[in-house]
Amino acid sequence: MEKKIAVFDTTLRDGEQCAGITLSVEDKLKIARKLARLGVDVIEAGFPISSPGDFDSVKTIARQVKGPVICGLARCLKKDIDACWEAVKFAEKPRIHVFLATSEIHRRHKLKKAKEEILKMAVESVKYARSLSPSVEFSPEDASRTEPEFLKEVVEKVIAAGAEVVNIPDTVGYAYPDEFGQLIGYLKKNVPNIEEAVISIHCHNDLGLATANTLSAVKNGAGQVEVTINGIGERAGNAALEEVVMVLHTRKDIFSYQTSIDTSMIYPVSRLVSKLMGMPVQRNKAIVGANAFAHSSGIHLDGILKDRRTYEIIKPEDIGLEGHTMILTARSGRHALKARLKQLGYELPEEDFEKCFQMFKEIADKKKEVFDEDLIALVEDEVIHIPETYHLLYTHIVSGNRTIPTATVKLRKGKETYQEASVGNGPVDAAYKAIDRITGLQPRLVDYALSAVTSGKEAMGEVTVKVKEGEVEVMGRGVSTDVLEASVRAYMNAINRLIYRKTKARKKVNAPRL
Ligand code: KIV
Ligand code: ZN
Repeated sequence: MEKKIAVFDTTLRDGEQCAGITLSVEDKLKIARKLARLGVDVIEAGFPISSPGDFDSVKTIARQVKGPVICGLARCLKKDIDACWEAVKFAEKPRIHVFLATSEIHRRHKLKKAKEEILKMAVESVKYARSLSPSVEFSPEDASRTEPEFLKEVVEKVIAAGAEVVNIPDTVGYAYPDEFGQLIGYLKKNVPNIEEAVISIHCHNDLGLATANTLSAVKNGAGQVEVTINGIGERAGNAALEEVVMVLHTRKDIFSYQTSIDTSMIYPVSRLVSKLMGMPVQRNKAIVGANAFAHSSGIHLDGILKDRRTYEIIKPEDIGLEGHTMILTARSGRHALKARLKQLGYELPEEDFEKCFQMFKEIADKKKEVFDEDLIALVEDEVIHIPETYHLLYTHIVSGNRTIPTATVKLRKGKETYQEASVGNGPVDAAYKAIDRITGLQPRLVDYALSAVTSGKEAMGEVTVKVKEGEVEVMGRGVSTDVLEASVRAYMNAINRLIYRKTKARKKVNAPRL
């Protein structure tokens, strides 16, 4: 049977230490609830003594979030441990996490204490914490730069004092994977009572090695990984939960371990954390970056379309994404364009497709990326030529700061002409209402944008609108020196597309998704 690796999430403690982040109690609760759904084993909810806000957050999470162990951080001080217990004691499964630096540099310059004092404080604090909480974790801060002999002694003594978990932090992200793995192996081999506790690791990313160090430690016997969502944390951050978990998930040939993480929750949790913390995820971030499943080059797109495994080692669905993104650029080939058009509902005869491909290349040369809207406009304006069911004959709009906006519109459909008038909340609204009276359609205006396409006082105005009726959403575009006329033309363009789409849908013929 595969060994279980416990996932200890410290997004709300070490992650929140990231410069420039402060979360409200409500936001922390939202994140904690999502972490519980993600399936983490432990949520480190905060550092209760550090501020009244942190205390409240830990207490609220302890009271309301069920499932994972709820843990709080404390220095080796009675007042910290008391505050921590007061906050976590309401949890189904509470834990106090005490820490004390053990490296020479921290002992000498920060704590100004000798080894013996450090050992005594650590042991007494673990014992005190154990007198309150059924579960205690101890971290010798800066463990990776601590003399291994002394670290071994600390680990042995805190386990004897009652620590259920001993966490070995690479506090400053200095360790190298082989070396860090060997350190864990050394403790596993040389600490006599090591099997009475779980060895945890907590790696920082100062040299970009946090995930590698975490995995090397797992290979050498660590049973708990301390991680954060999106790798956020102090300075360059912590090992990213999504990276560590997906390596374990993807490389079963190397790692015969399991976690309780529901990987399909990874992307939603990543988005929530990024949004609430105001920390955008870099586009090329492994697993959760916008480009992580985006394919652009023609050769890659062709490979993906033939068999996605050619260029994808993880299924996007496994982390909760709908699928991969095909980015159409000047480097994308015929195969990719054809596939995208098919997804959009257009299956063009070979001759039309060729025309479309040549025009696509011209657009792609001018733009970094060709979006679905560009493709739709290209196909409908240049290839399919959407029929103009209603043709605008004239429009007369009256507006002013002391007049009720009124519009009269005359349209032709086949051989018939129709005229209607309407008032509205503005001249554009009045005109759109008059058009709706003629067509009998009731679309909702989802988007309206006006921009100048030429410069100067006589600039051409371009209006783009997005309208939706039922499930059908279409765009329309109109250009004129008169912005009201451009607005009416854009709406008419959208209405004709809407009618085309609805007729197509009724006939069940390749109804394109606009
Ligand atoms: O990086 C570190 O050493 C810590 C400890 C408090 C575990 O965050
Ligand atoms: Zn840390």
